[in-house]
Amino acid sequence: MQTWWRDAVVYEVYVRSFADSDGDGVGDLDGVRARLPHLVDLGVDAIWLTPFYRSPMADHGYDVADHTDVDPLFGDLAAFDRLLADAHASGIRVIVDVVPNHTSVAHPWFVEALGDPASPLRDRFVFRDGQGPGGTEPPNNWSSVFGGRAWTRESPDGQWYLHLFDSSQPDLDWHHPAVPEEMHRVLRFWLDRGVDGFRIDVAHSLFKNPDLSDIPAGTTNSIDNPHVWDRDEVLALYEQWREVVDGYDGDRMMVGEVFLFDIERVARYVSDRRLHQAFNFLVMLAPWDAGALREVVESGLKHLVAPTWVLSNHDLPRHVTRFGGGDLGRRRGLAVTALLLALPGSTYLYQGEELGLEEADVPKHLRQDPIWVRTGGTLPGRDGCRTPIPWQAEAPGLGFTSGEPWLPFGADAADRAVDLQRQDPASVLNAYRRLLATRAAVLRENPGDDVTFLELGDQVVGVQRGPLVAVLNTADAAVELALAGELIAATADGAGVSGGVVTVPEASTVWLRTG
Ligand code: NOJ
Repeated sequence: MQTWWRDAVVYEVYVRSFADSDGDGVGDLDGVRARLPHLVDLGVDAIWLTPFYRSPMADHGYDVADHTDVDPLFGDLAAFDRLLADAHASGIRVIVDVVPNHTSVAHPWFVEALGDPASPLRDRFVFRDGQGPGGTEPPNNWSSVFGGRAWTRESPDGQWYLHLFDSSQPDLDWHHPAVPEEMHRVLRFWLDRGVDGFRIDVAHSLFKNPDLSDIPAGTTNSIDNPHVWDRDEVLALYEQWREVVDGYDGDRMMVGEVFLFDIERVARYVSDRRLHQAFNFLVMLAPWDAGALREVVESGLKHLVAPTWVLSNHDLPRHVTRFGGGDLGRRRGLAVTALLLALPGSTYLYQGEELGLEEADVPKHLRQDPIWVRTGGTLPGRDGCRTPIPWQAEAPGLGFTSGEPWLPFGADAADRAVDLQRQDPASVLNAYRRLLATRAAVLRENPGDDVTFLELGDQVVGVQRGPLVAVLNTADAAVELALAGELIAATADGAGVSGGVVTVPEASTVWLRTG
């Protein structure tokens, strides 16, 4: 039997915005627990919880001050245990985020390292003298992913510290033995508590070139800095992590946020000795175009021994908006989702996509993302994909909170509330439910992992996986194709099979059972 994670539907819970149990306007662990029935009803296999650890929340939890405790904003360890137990009792696995590249400035190691230049803890981070007279220029020309330079000078002795993200997120020095040792402890802590796996934040960084040399001339973008991303040392580290994880029973797993656009580089992270999976972000970059979509599907299947499919997450604009917005964007988004769900591998869903939510236009004065702040308002930041989930159209706070939500709802929120969509057979929510249920039934028939591409025209992507055929039509008009089989799913009205011809309406996907 295949391990559970190879073909899982994993639902990302951005905890701050999912469900608030205590009225402070911020989602929390008891809120997630209370809404587990939604996830059971949807039919997901697992949830990935974004960081809920102790944190000043400068990057909304990706700035961790204590990796083995729950921030009071989200609950406490007992609340985590309750959630884990209830999720497991409901047949849902739980993956937690691990953030190894950096800590928070409030982490006790960094507090001491910054305050006392003579402290041995200083070597666990990347402190350096500046350049130029008085060291007033940063040690090198690296810039932060969030905008501005990657160095901040706050130490009493005038040294600078490295931060690839916000200045509140100092990078750890992974060449220092205390760092891997501590992170092994963190992994064990959560494995002992019973988690089913980890999502590894910025998994392709961690080790920086110790010589800290300048970015080569012509490399302008922080995400192209060869000194900080995708260095071979990190692969050896994951071989150690794999041993830790494999030491536990129950099919625990790791999925890496390997944010690289060369799928062959991403593939190096995934093997039976390294990570179990890495996110395939190429899917998120693909436009609404059959050729482009086929290419990412083909390359993902070809290169990743355990493929993954991701259309949205808490860092990029929601796919309904990327695909044109409104009903058209929703229709296209659903069609692409249905194609991905037919493929071997795991599909990662992001909360709210099952409601067809669009990217929200958060008013400028309410934006909170450090990207918005650090770029001086040049980049909008990620708040638009992080607005709260609307549960009940008529309830105060749309059933998300009894207080004031930390980010405003998107303009379409009330109309797209869960309770309304549940009653509407034509809703996006019910389309997701049907697709996931049909997918589960197909998987029970063991369709295997072999995929054949069907040549059905320039605007169509057709795949055959065992008895399952999935056909995505990106054209503006329906297509009629010579294919036989039983129609088992369709993302739009008007699909049908008759006399060996299948009709696939415009911007939609159909699934057929053949043979
Ligand atoms: C990736 C996370 O998904 C993102 O939200 C965060 O800001 C950065 N890593 C830094 O931790």
